[in-house]
Amino acid sequence: MRRVHSPPGDLISATADKATRYRELLPQLAALVDGEPDLIANLANAVAALRECVTAASWIGIYVLRGGELVLGPFQGKVACVRIALGRGVCGTAAAERRTVVVPDVDKFPGHIACDAGSRSEIVVPILRRGELVAVLDLDSYDLAAFDDRDAAGLAPIAELLGTLAW
Ligand code: SME
Repeated sequence: MRRVHSPPGDLISATADKATRYRELLPQLAALVDGEPDLIANLANAVAALRECVTAASWIGIYVLRGGELVLGPFQGKVACVRIALGRGVCGTAAAERRTVVVPDVDKFPGHIACDAGSRSEIVVPILRRGELVAVLDLDSYDLAAFDDRDAAGLAPIAELLGTLAW
């Protein structure tokens, strides 16, 4: 089986199904952030590790809740919109409603914010710390319907882990 290199010393199965890949990623992410108090370093590594895991993604990043709006944090991909109001776009909707939003076709999501005109589908997962929203995790793809319930299920414990960081 071909494998891709992921976080130091660990591997994610390149050919495994989505659920397996997310399951493999989780302990690696936990090990990556274990003992490291720096939020930016941890988020940067988390996003990089996710990029190895989610090959369908064209962009993966974190928008952090700051002063009542979402502000661009660590990401992998093209330059992106810096500030998003709560309730606006897919990110602002997921943040305002504290729920994962899966968008199979961004053209059919009213108010979608097109940071990259090539994006066709998206998933946004809220990150909560002790029940309070601190950020959202945003993944975009150039493919239609790249994300589904399996991604939502796989990303949920990852968002939960990120919620335990020192926000
Ligand atoms: N498409 C997002 C904006 C962020 S970019 O995808 C990086 C949205 O509608 O909220």
